Amino acid sequence: ELLLANHERECTTCDRNGSCKLQELANRFGVKKIRFGERDIKLPLDQSSPSIVRDPNKCILCGDCVRMCSEVQGIGALDFTGRGSKATVAPAFNKQLSEVECVNCGQCSAVCPTGALVVKDETDKAWAAINNPEKMVVVQVAPAVRVALGEEFGLPAGEIVTGKVVSALKRLGFDKVFDTCITADLTVIEETNEFISRLQQGEKLPQFTSCCPAWVKFAEHNEAEFLKNLSSCRSPQQMFGSLIKKHWAADLGKKPEDIIVVSIMPCTAKKFEASLPHFSTDGVQDVDLVLTTQELARMIREAGLVFEQLDIESFDTPFGFTSGTGVLFGATGGVAEAVLRAAHEFVTGEPIDQINFEEVRGFKHLKEAKVEIAGQEIKVAVVHGLGNAKALLNKIKEGKADYHIIEVMACPGGCIGGAGQPISPSMETKKKRAKGIYNADKLSQLRKSQDNPVVTKFYDQWLEKPNSEQAHEALHTAYANRGRIIGEDIQLLTSKQPDKVDIAVCVGTCCYLKGSYDTLKKFMTQADEAKVREKINLHATFCLEGCEQSPSIKVNNEIINGVTPDQAETVFKEKILTKLKED
Ligand code: SF4
Ligand code: SF4
Ligand code: SF4
Ligand code: FES
Repeated sequence: ELLLANHERECTTCDRNGSCKLQELANRFGVKKIRFGERDIKLPLDQSSPSIVRDPNKCILCGDCVRMCSEVQGIGALDFTGRGSKATVAPAFNKQLSEVECVNCGQCSAVCPTGALVVKDETDKAWAAINNPEKMVVVQVAPAVRVALGEEFGLPAGEIVTGKVVSALKRLGFDKVFDTCITADLTVIEETNEFISRLQQGEKLPQFTSCCPAWVKFAEHNEAEFLKNLSSCRSPQQMFGSLIKKHWAADLGKKPEDIIVVSIMPCTAKKFEASLPHFSTDGVQDVDLVLTTQELARMIREAGLVFEQLDIESFDTPFGFTSGTGVLFGATGGVAEAVLRAAHEFVTGEPIDQINFEEVRGFKHLKEAKVEIAGQEIKVAVVHGLGNAKALLNKIKEGKADYHIIEVMACPGGCIGGAGQPISPSMETKKKRAKGIYNADKLSQLRKSQDNPVVTKFYDQWLEKPNSEQAHEALHTAYANRGRIIGEDIQLLTSKQPDKVDIAVCVGTCCYLKGSYDTLKKFMTQADEAKVREKINLHATFCLEGCEQSPSIKVNNEIINGVTPDQAETVFKEKILTKLKED
């Protein structure tokens, strides 16, 4: 009763209605009446993260998120703050989640027993896209979704429901339903060729996988010395978006902005990844919208579909024909196994006898395998959970571990345990989902990515050959050191006026090296010349996540990239003075 007294009780509109532990306990203990009034102060929601929403009014201070973020993920973005009735769980200095080193893995929301931390719901945007007659809406489905979505409708964990997922998406109104596994096949080919080239040149080893955006963000924030070791391959989600917008649209005679690409992912970090400025061309995102497995289940319910009774349908062509290897990306060890299936054949030209690599399967924190390729022993490591990744990186730095290729997935169990999957804290559920992944691979007509004829066709039509210039343009990326200087923003001008314009100039590493300090000085001069000092808030801030297109500034809530010192005057006039005039 005391927990409920301090808890906002709008259950009907809460995302966790029906899956909330507090609701379940209140039911179990027969709490029918709460003798105390509700909390009189309503704390603000933190909606700053692209992936999760934090509602401190629903927090029961159990501390599970704090332990998950710090002990399992090794990050510590959340902690207890305040005392007594003012106690709450929040990022340091009561900052917003987007202002701290949160990697958007969402694992805190996966363990939160209430609606205090939930996946950001973007189903409204999906309905709007589907109902827009001027747009073609294509959807891609990630491997791990097919072994978990059924749980939302009472089917057993691990049951492969691929055909029903396709059927549901078609009934919801998506124009084309495609499979992310095809770009997972493409990732295997690009990443294996990249690995072989590094191996032959003896450089940038160990090579780390790069398909988990939470891991990539973690490395960019904390492990600058290893950034050169990350594979430059985009994740399968981003390869898919890029091919659709750069090549497939043109083949259909459409412009990239005529097509809306939606992803169904097990992952909250993919929402962040899709929004990164370097995955857009001329302001058009390669992937427009990312929905999690949980959000797709919500849409299926809203549409009144009886999922369990849906007929089975097949993915559309050409992005629907995949190998079993692509499916493996859903479980920890899957990417490493996929590369092993390809590497031997790429080096020797001989097909490999061994298809399954049991050593990299399962849920051990660190899995290791040794394979021989053309007389050379290749050492492979697989870790899942960022805390385990951190421990392994420390061992490498101390010279106590040595590998050629390392797979890192941020979520415990890999993507099958992603925070966007149906809520289930049980390890048993994750094991069943993993079994479903391996069964899906076993049942596939093709077991190796390199045997996929559609992928070969993509190279012939659009990409020339693996690691070619065209392939790099569409399928690869670069990383930036986003190491933040811990501390508050540095306030230079403070306005007390209600219609003030807020300007943040990034002085993080990338921006500083490109002259953002001079931009700051120029903005000060411009503010004096235009006599608007008292109307603007001007502050120096740290990484705005636009490093690849740096230097970056933020005007109110709009991030503007590429603001070099010589453009400072124009930007001040066009983006800041005009705003002051509008107001
Ligand atoms: S999303 Fe991940 S990194 Fe961010 S607060 Fe939650 S557990 Fe920590
Ligand atoms: S897991 Fe949820 S309820 Fe528990 S402390 Fe964290 S935010 Fe609060
Ligand atoms: S392991 Fe998978 S689900 Fe988890 S953050 Fe990485 S890509 Fe997303
Ligand atoms: S350092 Fe990352 S945007 Fe400025």
